[in-house]
Amino acid sequence: MERHAPRLAKRATDIQPFHVMALLARARALEASGRSIVHMEIGEPDFETAEPIIAAGRAALAAGHTHYTPAVGLSQLREAIADYYHRRYGVNIDVDRVIVTPGASGALLLAVAALVDRGQEVLMADPGYPCNRNFVRLVEGRTRLVATDAASNYQLYAEHAADHWGDATVAALVASPANPTGSMLSHVQLGALYELAVQRRGTLIVDEIYHGLTYGIEADTALSISDDIFVINSFSKYFGMTGWRLGWMVAPRDYVPALDRLAQNLFLAAPTPAQWAALAAFAPETTAILESRREAFRERRDFLLPALRDIGFAIPVTPQGAFYLYADCSRFTDDSFGFSRELLERAGVAITPGIDFGQYRAERHVRFAYTTSLEQLRDGVERIRQFLLA
Ligand SMILES: Cc1ncc(COP(=O)(O)O)c(C=O)c1O
Repeated sequence: MERHAPRLAKRATDIQPFHVMALLARARALEASGRSIVHMEIGEPDFETAEPIIAAGRAALAAGHTHYTPAVGLSQLREAIADYYHRRYGVNIDVDRVIVTPGASGALLLAVAALVDRGQEVLMADPGYPCNRNFVRLVEGRTRLVATDAASNYQLYAEHAADHWGDATVAALVASPANPTGSMLSHVQLGALYELAVQRRGTLIVDEIYHGLTYGIEADTALSISDDIFVINSFSKYFGMTGWRLGWMVAPRDYVPALDRLAQNLFLAAPTPAQWAALAAFAPETTAILESRREAFRERRDFLLPALRDIGFAIPVTPQGAFYLYADCSRFTDDSFGFSRELLERAGVAITPGIDFGQYRAERHVRFAYTTSLEQLRDGVERIRQFLLA
Protein backbone atom coordinates (compact mmCIF):
# COMPACT_ATOMS: atom_id res chain seq x y z
CA MET A 1 0.00 0.00 0.00
CA GLU A 2 1.16 3.51 -0.77
CA ARG A 3 2.34 5.37 2.33
CA HIS A 4 1.24 8.95 2.89
CA ALA A 5 3.26 11.60 4.63
CA PRO A 6 1.83 12.14 8.14
CA ARG A 7 -0.96 14.72 8.09
CA LEU A 8 0.34 16.81 10.91
CA ALA A 9 -1.32 19.81 12.48
CA LYS A 10 0.56 22.99 11.75
CA ARG A 11 1.64 23.34 15.40
CA ALA A 12 3.40 20.02 15.15
CA THR A 13 5.51 21.25 12.27
CA ASP A 14 5.97 24.74 13.68
CA ILE A 15 7.48 23.33 16.86
CA GLN A 16 11.01 22.46 15.88
CA PRO A 17 13.63 20.33 17.63
CA PHE A 18 16.56 22.02 19.33
CA HIS A 19 19.68 22.26 17.21
CA VAL A 20 21.65 20.92 20.14
CA MET A 21 19.80 17.60 19.79
CA ALA A 22 21.53 16.99 16.46
CA LEU A 23 24.85 17.86 18.11
CA LEU A 24 24.11 15.61 21.07
CA ALA A 25 23.25 12.71 18.74
CA ARG A 26 26.49 13.30 16.86
CA ALA A 27 28.42 13.49 20.16
CA ARG A 28 26.94 10.13 21.22
CA ALA A 29 27.86 8.60 17.85
CA LEU A 30 31.42 9.88 18.18
CA GLU A 31 31.61 8.44 21.69
CA ALA A 32 30.30 5.10 20.46
CA SER A 33 33.14 5.06 17.93
CA GLY A 34 35.66 5.58 20.75
CA ARG A 35 36.17 9.38 20.70
CA SER A 36 36.29 11.19 24.02
CA ILE A 37 33.82 14.07 24.24
CA VAL A 38 33.66 16.84 26.81
CA HIS A 39 29.98 17.61 27.38
CA MET A 40 29.27 21.28 28.00
CA GLU A 41 25.87 21.25 26.33
CA ILE A 42 23.79 19.45 28.93
CA GLY A 43 21.19 21.43 30.88
CA GLU A 44 20.92 19.21 33.92
CA PRO A 45 23.09 18.63 36.99
CA ASP A 46 25.62 15.83 36.55
CA PHE A 47 25.14 14.78 40.19
CA GLU A 48 22.93 11.81 41.00
CA THR A 49 19.77 12.53 42.96
CA ALA A 50 20.70 12.92 46.64
CA GLU A 51 20.54 9.64 48.58
CA PRO A 52 17.82 10.68 51.09
CA ILE A 53 15.50 11.40 48.15
CA ILE A 54 16.31 8.08 46.48
CA ALA A 55 15.69 6.27 49.78
CA ALA A 56 12.32 8.03 50.14
CA GLY A 57 11.47 7.04 46.55
CA ARG A 58 12.32 3.40 47.25
CA ALA A 59 10.26 3.46 50.43
CA ALA A 60 7.33 4.98 48.51
CA LEU A 61 7.42 2.16 45.97
CA ALA A 62 7.72 -0.47 48.72
CA ALA A 63 4.72 1.08 50.47
CA GLY A 64 2.66 0.88 47.28
CA HIS A 65 2.42 4.60 46.59
CA THR A 66 1.80 3.97 42.92
CA HIS A 67 -1.71 5.31 42.39
CA TYR A 68 -2.81 8.75 41.26
CA THR A 69 -2.64 11.64 43.69
CA PRO A 70 -5.06 14.60 43.49
CA ALA A 71 -4.39 16.63 40.32
CA VAL A 72 -2.94 19.51 42.32
CA GLY A 73 -0.59 17.15 44.16
CA LEU A 74 -0.08 15.19 47.34
CA SER A 75 -1.25 17.32 50.25
CA GLN A 76 1.89 16.56 52.32
CA LEU A 77 4.10 17.77 49.47
CA ARG A 78 2.05 20.92 48.92
CA GLU A 79 2.43 21.65 52.62
CA ALA A 80 6.17 20.97 52.50
CA ILE A 81 6.49 23.41 49.58
CA ALA A 82 4.47 26.10 51.37
CA ASP A 83 6.64 25.57 54.44
CA TYR A 84 9.77 25.87 52.29
CA TYR A 85 8.68 29.37 51.20
CA HIS A 86 8.32 30.31 54.81
CA ARG A 87 11.71 28.95 55.86
CA ARG A 88 13.72 29.99 52.82
CA TYR A 89 12.16 33.34 51.94
CA GLY A 90 10.10 34.30 54.98
CA VAL A 91 6.97 34.34 52.81
CA ASN A 92 3.65 32.85 53.93
CA ILE A 93 1.92 30.90 51.18
CA ASP A 94 -1.50 29.43 51.56
CA VAL A 95 -1.07 25.73 50.76
CA ASP A 96 -4.15 25.81 48.50
CA ARG A 97 -2.19 27.95 46.05
CA VAL A 98 0.53 25.32 45.53
CA ILE A 99 0.02 23.08 42.51
CA VAL A 100 2.41 20.19 41.99
CA THR A 101 3.15 19.51 38.33
CA PRO A 102 5.19 17.21 36.07
CA GLY A 103 8.31 19.42 36.11
CA ALA A 104 8.39 23.16 35.65
CA SER A 105 7.44 22.19 32.10
CA GLY A 106 4.02 21.08 33.33
CA ALA A 107 3.64 24.27 35.37
CA LEU A 108 4.61 26.50 32.44
CA LEU A 109 2.18 24.70 30.16
CA LEU A 110 -0.59 25.04 32.74
CA ALA A 111 0.08 28.75 33.20
CA VAL A 112 0.11 29.40 29.47
CA ALA A 113 -3.00 27.27 28.91
CA ALA A 114 -4.82 29.15 31.67
CA LEU A 115 -3.83 32.64 30.57
CA VAL A 116 -3.37 32.80 26.80
CA ASP A 117 -6.10 32.66 24.19
CA ARG A 118 -5.69 32.31 20.44
CA GLY A 119 -3.84 35.31 19.00
CA GLN A 120 -2.89 36.72 22.39
CA GLU A 121 0.66 37.58 23.10
CA VAL A 122 3.29 36.83 25.74
CA LEU A 123 6.44 38.92 26.16
CA MET A 124 9.73 37.11 26.72
CA ALA A 125 13.40 37.95 26.62
CA ASP A 126 15.50 36.91 23.65
CA PRO A 127 17.67 34.94 24.40
CA GLY A 128 15.49 32.73 26.56
CA TYR A 129 14.35 29.21 27.33
CA PRO A 130 12.96 27.93 24.02
CA CYS A 131 10.12 25.67 25.22
CA ASN A 132 8.16 28.65 26.51
CA ARG A 133 7.56 29.92 22.98
CA ASN A 134 6.38 26.49 21.99
CA PHE A 135 3.89 26.28 24.84
CA VAL A 136 2.44 29.56 23.63
CA ARG A 137 2.40 28.23 20.07
CA LEU A 138 0.59 25.11 21.25
CA VAL A 139 -2.32 27.19 22.55
CA GLU A 140 -2.35 29.29 19.35
CA GLY A 141 -0.92 32.33 21.09
CA ARG A 142 2.00 34.44 19.94
CA THR A 143 5.31 35.19 21.56
CA ARG A 144 6.82 38.62 21.32
CA LEU A 145 10.53 38.16 21.76
CA VAL A 146 12.26 41.23 23.12
CA ALA A 147 15.93 41.55 22.19
CA THR A 148 18.05 41.89 25.31
CA ASP A 149 21.77 42.22 25.79
CA ALA A 150 24.38 42.82 28.46
CA ALA A 151 23.05 46.36 29.06
CA SER A 152 19.96 44.88 30.74
CA ASN A 153 21.74 41.79 32.01
CA TYR A 154 19.95 39.85 29.23
CA GLN A 155 16.71 40.29 31.14
CA LEU A 156 13.34 41.72 30.23
CA TYR A 157 13.14 44.95 32.22
CA ALA A 158 9.94 46.90 32.89
CA GLU A 159 11.13 49.51 30.34
CA HIS A 160 11.28 46.82 27.64
CA ALA A 161 7.90 45.49 28.63
CA ALA A 162 6.44 49.01 28.47
CA ASP A 163 7.85 49.50 24.97
CA HIS A 164 6.61 46.17 23.65
CA TRP A 165 3.33 45.66 25.49
CA GLY A 166 0.66 45.74 22.81
CA ASP A 167 -3.11 45.43 22.65
CA ALA A 168 -2.89 41.65 22.37
CA THR A 169 -0.33 41.22 25.16
CA VAL A 170 -1.66 39.37 28.17
CA ALA A 171 1.47 38.35 30.05
CA ALA A 172 5.20 38.68 30.48
CA LEU A 173 7.23 35.59 31.29
CA VAL A 174 10.70 35.90 32.82
CA ALA A 175 13.16 33.54 34.45
CA SER A 176 15.59 34.54 37.18
CA PRO A 177 18.23 33.14 37.11
CA ALA A 178 17.73 32.60 33.40
CA ASN A 179 18.61 29.97 30.86
CA PRO A 180 20.86 30.45 28.79
CA THR A 181 22.49 33.44 30.49
CA GLY A 182 22.44 32.69 34.23
CA SER A 183 21.46 36.32 34.77
CA MET A 184 19.05 37.53 37.44
CA LEU A 185 16.43 40.19 37.97
CA SER A 186 16.70 42.06 41.25
CA HIS A 187 13.79 42.40 43.63
CA VAL A 188 13.36 46.01 42.47
CA GLN A 189 13.40 45.06 38.79
CA LEU A 190 10.86 42.30 39.37
CA GLY A 191 8.72 44.76 41.31
CA ALA A 192 8.81 47.24 38.44
CA LEU A 193 7.87 44.52 35.97
CA TYR A 194 4.95 43.49 38.16
CA GLU A 195 3.76 47.13 38.43
CA LEU A 196 3.87 47.43 34.67
CA ALA A 197 1.92 44.19 34.20
CA VAL A 198 -0.73 45.44 36.65
CA GLN A 199 -0.96 48.80 34.85
CA ARG A 200 -1.53 46.99 31.57
CA ARG A 201 -4.00 44.56 33.13
CA GLY A 202 -1.74 41.65 32.35
CA THR A 203 -0.06 38.89 34.28
CA LEU A 204 3.52 38.31 35.33
CA ILE A 205 4.88 34.76 35.27
CA VAL A 206 8.24 34.22 36.97
CA ASP A 207 10.19 31.00 36.47
CA GLU A 208 12.35 30.45 39.56
CA ILE A 209 13.63 27.03 38.52
CA TYR A 210 17.27 28.00 39.10
CA HIS A 211 16.68 29.32 42.60
CA GLY A 212 19.12 27.69 44.99
CA LEU A 213 21.76 27.70 42.27
CA THR A 214 22.98 31.24 42.82
CA TYR A 215 26.49 32.16 43.81
CA GLY A 216 27.33 34.79 46.38
CA ILE A 217 23.76 36.06 46.28
CA GLU A 218 20.38 34.70 47.37
CA ALA A 219 17.46 34.99 44.98
CA ASP A 220 14.31 36.46 46.43
CA THR A 221 11.02 34.93 45.34
CA ALA A 222 8.61 37.09 43.35
CA LEU A 223 5.99 35.97 45.85
CA SER A 224 7.48 38.44 48.30
CA ILE A 225 6.30 41.17 45.90
CA SER A 226 2.74 40.02 45.35
CA ASP A 227 0.39 37.06 45.68
CA ASP A 228 -0.84 37.87 42.18
CA ILE A 229 2.28 36.66 40.40
CA PHE A 230 2.46 33.16 38.91
CA VAL A 231 5.62 31.60 40.30
CA ILE A 232 7.04 28.44 38.77
CA ASN A 233 9.67 26.19 40.30
CA SER A 234 10.93 22.65 40.00
CA PHE A 235 12.68 19.77 41.72
CA SER A 236 14.86 19.37 38.62
CA LYS A 237 17.81 21.70 39.04
CA TYR A 238 18.72 22.69 42.64
CA PHE A 239 17.09 19.52 43.99
CA GLY A 240 18.76 17.39 41.28
CA MET A 241 15.65 15.41 40.28
CA THR A 242 15.36 16.03 36.52
CA GLY A 243 14.23 12.53 35.61
CA TRP A 244 11.61 12.32 38.36
CA ARG A 245 9.56 14.94 36.50
CA LEU A 246 8.36 17.08 39.32
CA GLY A 247 7.83 20.80 39.68
CA TRP A 248 5.28 23.21 41.04
CA MET A 249 3.49 26.48 40.63
CA VAL A 250 2.25 28.94 43.21
CA ALA A 251 -0.73 30.64 41.63
CA PRO A 252 -2.95 33.57 42.57
CA ARG A 253 -5.85 32.18 44.57
CA ASP A 254 -8.61 32.97 42.07
CA TYR A 255 -6.90 30.99 39.34
CA VAL A 256 -6.52 27.76 41.30
CA PRO A 257 -9.86 26.14 40.39
CA ALA A 258 -9.19 26.64 36.66
CA LEU A 259 -5.63 25.36 37.00
CA ASP A 260 -6.92 22.34 38.91
CA ARG A 261 -9.36 21.58 36.06
CA LEU A 262 -6.63 21.95 33.46
CA ALA A 263 -4.21 19.79 35.47
CA GLN A 264 -6.87 17.07 35.83
CA ASN A 265 -7.34 17.00 32.08
CA LEU A 266 -3.78 17.46 30.90
CA PHE A 267 -1.85 15.29 33.37
CA LEU A 268 -4.27 13.70 35.87
CA ALA A 269 -1.44 14.21 38.36
CA ALA A 270 2.33 14.45 38.70
CA PRO A 271 4.18 11.13 39.22
CA THR A 272 3.24 9.69 42.60
CA PRO A 273 6.51 7.98 43.66
CA ALA A 274 8.35 11.17 42.73
CA GLN A 275 6.04 13.22 44.95
CA TRP A 276 6.69 10.97 47.94
CA ALA A 277 10.42 11.04 47.22
CA ALA A 278 10.39 14.82 47.05
CA LEU A 279 9.19 15.01 50.64
CA ALA A 280 12.80 14.18 51.53
CA ALA A 281 14.10 17.03 49.34
CA PHE A 282 13.60 19.54 52.16
CA ALA A 283 15.20 17.46 54.94
CA PRO A 284 18.30 19.00 56.57
CA GLU A 285 20.56 16.12 55.45
CA THR A 286 19.44 16.66 51.85
CA THR A 287 19.96 20.41 52.12
CA ALA A 288 23.54 19.77 53.28
CA ILE A 289 24.20 17.67 50.15
CA LEU A 290 22.52 20.19 47.83
CA GLU A 291 24.42 23.09 49.33
CA SER A 292 27.75 21.32 48.82
CA ARG A 293 26.77 20.80 45.18
CA ARG A 294 25.90 24.46 44.88
CA GLU A 295 29.43 25.17 46.05
CA ALA A 296 30.80 22.82 43.39
CA PHE A 297 28.84 24.71 40.72
CA ARG A 298 30.19 28.00 42.03
CA GLU A 299 33.75 26.69 41.80
CA ARG A 300 33.13 25.55 38.25
CA ARG A 301 31.73 28.91 37.26
CA ASP A 302 34.66 30.66 38.89
CA PHE A 303 37.03 28.52 36.83
CA LEU A 304 35.18 28.55 33.52
CA LEU A 305 34.25 32.22 33.29
CA PRO A 306 37.79 33.66 33.33
CA ALA A 307 39.13 30.70 31.33
CA LEU A 308 36.70 31.34 28.47
CA ARG A 309 37.30 35.08 28.58
CA ASP A 310 41.01 34.36 28.45
CA ILE A 311 40.73 32.46 25.18
CA GLY A 312 38.64 35.14 23.51
CA PHE A 313 34.97 34.65 24.32
CA ALA A 314 33.19 37.78 25.48
CA ILE A 315 31.01 37.33 28.57
CA PRO A 316 30.31 40.91 29.55
CA VAL A 317 28.40 40.34 32.79
CA THR A 318 29.18 37.76 35.43
CA PRO A 319 26.22 35.39 35.65
CA GLN A 320 25.04 34.99 39.21
CA GLY A 321 23.15 31.75 38.88
CA ALA A 322 22.08 28.57 37.03
CA PHE A 323 24.91 26.58 35.43
CA TYR A 324 25.36 28.34 32.12
CA LEU A 325 27.62 30.89 30.51
CA TYR A 326 26.28 32.65 27.43
CA ALA A 327 29.28 33.73 25.45
CA ASP A 328 29.76 35.99 22.46
CA CYS A 329 31.85 34.03 19.96
CA SER A 330 31.86 36.70 17.24
CA ARG A 331 35.63 36.98 17.43
CA PHE A 332 35.73 33.53 15.86
CA THR A 333 32.56 33.14 13.83
CA ASP A 334 29.23 34.59 12.76
CA ASP A 335 27.72 31.13 12.53
CA SER A 336 27.39 29.72 16.05
CA PHE A 337 25.81 26.48 14.85
CA GLY A 338 28.62 25.79 12.35
CA PHE A 339 31.13 26.74 15.03
CA SER A 340 29.55 24.33 17.53
CA ARG A 341 29.53 21.54 14.96
CA GLU A 342 33.15 22.08 14.05
CA LEU A 343 34.16 22.28 17.69
CA LEU A 344 32.51 18.93 18.26
CA GLU A 345 34.04 17.25 15.21
CA ARG A 346 37.53 18.60 15.56
CA ALA A 347 38.00 19.13 19.28
CA GLY A 348 35.44 16.77 20.81
CA VAL A 349 33.71 19.49 22.83
CA ALA A 350 29.92 19.75 22.77
CA ILE A 351 28.28 23.15 23.39
CA THR A 352 24.91 24.67 22.50
CA PRO A 353 24.57 27.21 19.67
CA GLY A 354 22.78 30.49 20.44
CA ILE A 355 20.15 29.81 17.77
CA ASP A 356 18.44 27.43 20.20
CA PHE A 357 17.54 30.37 22.46
CA GLY A 358 16.19 33.00 20.11
CA GLN A 359 17.06 35.18 17.17
CA TYR A 360 18.81 38.22 18.51
CA ARG A 361 22.55 37.92 17.80
CA ALA A 362 22.01 34.19 18.15
CA GLU A 363 24.52 33.40 15.41
CA ARG A 364 27.17 35.12 17.47
CA HIS A 365 26.57 33.36 20.77
CA VAL A 366 27.00 29.93 22.28
CA ARG A 367 26.04 28.49 25.65
CA PHE A 368 28.46 26.60 27.84
CA ALA A 369 26.97 24.45 30.62
CA TYR A 370 29.16 23.67 33.59
CA THR A 371 27.29 20.49 34.38
CA THR A 372 30.44 18.41 34.33
CA SER A 373 33.46 18.06 36.61
CA LEU A 374 36.14 20.72 36.98
CA GLU A 375 38.58 18.26 35.47
CA GLN A 376 36.39 17.85 32.38
CA LEU A 377 35.93 21.62 32.15
CA ARG A 378 39.71 22.11 32.26
CA ASP A 379 40.13 19.53 29.51
CA GLY A 380 37.33 21.19 27.51
CA VAL A 381 38.87 24.65 27.73
CA GLU A 382 42.27 23.31 26.68
CA ARG A 383 40.72 21.56 23.68
CA ILE A 384 38.89 24.75 22.68
CA ARG A 385 42.10 26.75 23.04
CA GLN A 386 43.96 24.34 20.72
CA PHE A 387 41.03 24.37 18.29
CA LEU A 388 41.07 28.17 18.11
CA LEU A 389 44.84 28.23 17.59
CA ALA A 390 44.76 25.73 14.72
C1 LIG B 1 14.34 28.11 32.47
C2 LIG B 1 13.78 26.72 32.48
N1 LIG B 1 12.50 26.53 32.81
C3 LIG B 1 11.95 25.30 32.82
C4 LIG B 1 12.69 24.18 32.50
C5 LIG B 1 12.01 22.83 32.53
O1 LIG B 1 12.48 22.03 33.57
P1 LIG B 1 11.71 20.82 34.23
O2 LIG B 1 10.50 20.54 33.43
O3 LIG B 1 12.69 19.67 34.23
O4 LIG B 1 11.38 21.23 35.63
C6 LIG B 1 14.05 24.32 32.16
C7 LIG B 1 14.87 23.14 31.79
O5 LIG B 1 15.98 23.24 31.34
C8 LIG B 1 14.61 25.63 32.16
O6 LIG B 1 15.89 25.85 31.84
